[in-house]
Amino acid sequence: MRSTTGWQAHGTELRQVPLSRRDLRRDDIAVRVDFCGVCHTDLHSLRGHDGEGVLVPGHEFTGVVTEVGPDVTVFRAGDAVAVGNIVDSCGTCSMCEAGQENFCREFPTLTYGGKDRHDGTTTLGGYSREYVVREKFAYPLPSGLDPAAAAPLMCAGITVWEPMRALNVGPGMRVAVAGLGGLGHLAVKIAAALGAEVSVVSRSAERAKDAFRLGASGVVVSTDPESAAAARDSFDVLVDTIPVAHDLAPYLALVAVDGTLTQVGYLGSVTVETMDLLAGRKKLSSGGSGGLPATAAMLEFCAAHGITADVEVLPSKRVGEALERLDRGDVRYRFVLDLSDLD
Ligand SMILES: NC(=O)c1ccc[n+]([C@@H]2O[C@H](COP(=O)([O-])OP(=O)(O)OC[C@H]3O[C@@H](n4cnc5c(N)ncnc54)[C@H](OP(=O)(O)O)[C@@H]3O)[C@@H](O)[C@H]2O)c1
Ligand SMILES: [Zn+2]
Ligand SMILES: [Zn+2]
Repeated sequence: MRSTTGWQAHGTELRQVPLSRRDLRRDDIAVRVDFCGVCHTDLHSLRGHDGEGVLVPGHEFTGVVTEVGPDVTVFRAGDAVAVGNIVDSCGTCSMCEAGQENFCREFPTLTYGGKDRHDGTTTLGGYSREYVVREKFAYPLPSGLDPAAAAPLMCAGITVWEPMRALNVGPGMRVAVAGLGGLGHLAVKIAAALGAEVSVVSRSAERAKDAFRLGASGVVVSTDPESAAAARDSFDVLVDTIPVAHDLAPYLALVAVDGTLTQVGYLGSVTVETMDLLAGRKKLSSGGSGGLPATAAMLEFCAAHGITADVEVLPSKRVGEALERLDRGDVRYRFVLDLSDLD
């Protein structure tokens, strides 16, 4: 085993502890993790952690390859690399064959809290100085992208990219993004760069001011009935990134005829009034993470358009503060941990 250091859950707190990583398999690379984004999912995971098993969060990171297994072909030591929220899949089911490893019928191996397909151990995430990953699930980091600001592309970015691409977001499409946080601000930037007309649906008019800087041309204040009424039936695609269970009715009301609400934020059961779909033939969808081809395409697109997250970089020892501020919504728009303080 290899030894490294990382941030492990003890109750709802994270403590710096020594961690083990597996010895490299033939197609593995070892990555020195430099920057790891703080996703709202990390907060959900900490809250939901029952103390059983080891939890080391973190599933959007960038770093440098330090060592490669004998069958590795794409990477060499010294290469800049990016890793997202899935690190393996069965590779043979119809989803994997279609390049939708994120929907692997045997379930993809998650970057943390997943079960390794070979040795059955629990995967430990990127809040750590080293990660060992199959090369197939690592991506060359395009040279033009800042490694700290690019880290959030690997979860937040791909999670909004894939459904928007599947819904043909582009010129002539009206897109709304509900919840201007980590996922939401990247959805705005990406949708605008794809050529769509973008609006932000936010609880606060205050935060919404940033929306224009990010590329939006309209703002709907969800807490203001007049603002919401004025935007009724007007978006072809609404990307809902809200992290809590919420009534979908007011958001479906904003969707245009034959439009789609894609709920990628809250993952759990929802109640939908059929009439809210009927009136306008509206569709409800979801999505999560991305397949290998889509993730590579997303990185290429972001490099071509200079898209990265707006980040606040903190030394990893301040992870508790980052999580606490994320919980309060006090972040514009993604915390990224600098793991170099673990050396
Ligand atoms: N599908 C997937 O694979 C996937 C991947 C990554 C993350 N997620 C999930 O996506 C969600 C968003 O993640 P994130 O990292 O973007 O979170 P985030 O940075 O906290 O952003 C969420 C945004 O939603 C709005 N919001 C927060 N609390 C709300 C509430 N109680 N009611 C209404 N709006 C609220 C806020 O925007 P305003 O202040 O503008 O209203 C906030 O900025 C999380 O639940 C996360 O677990 C899913
Ligand atoms: Zn995430
Ligand atoms: Zn599969």
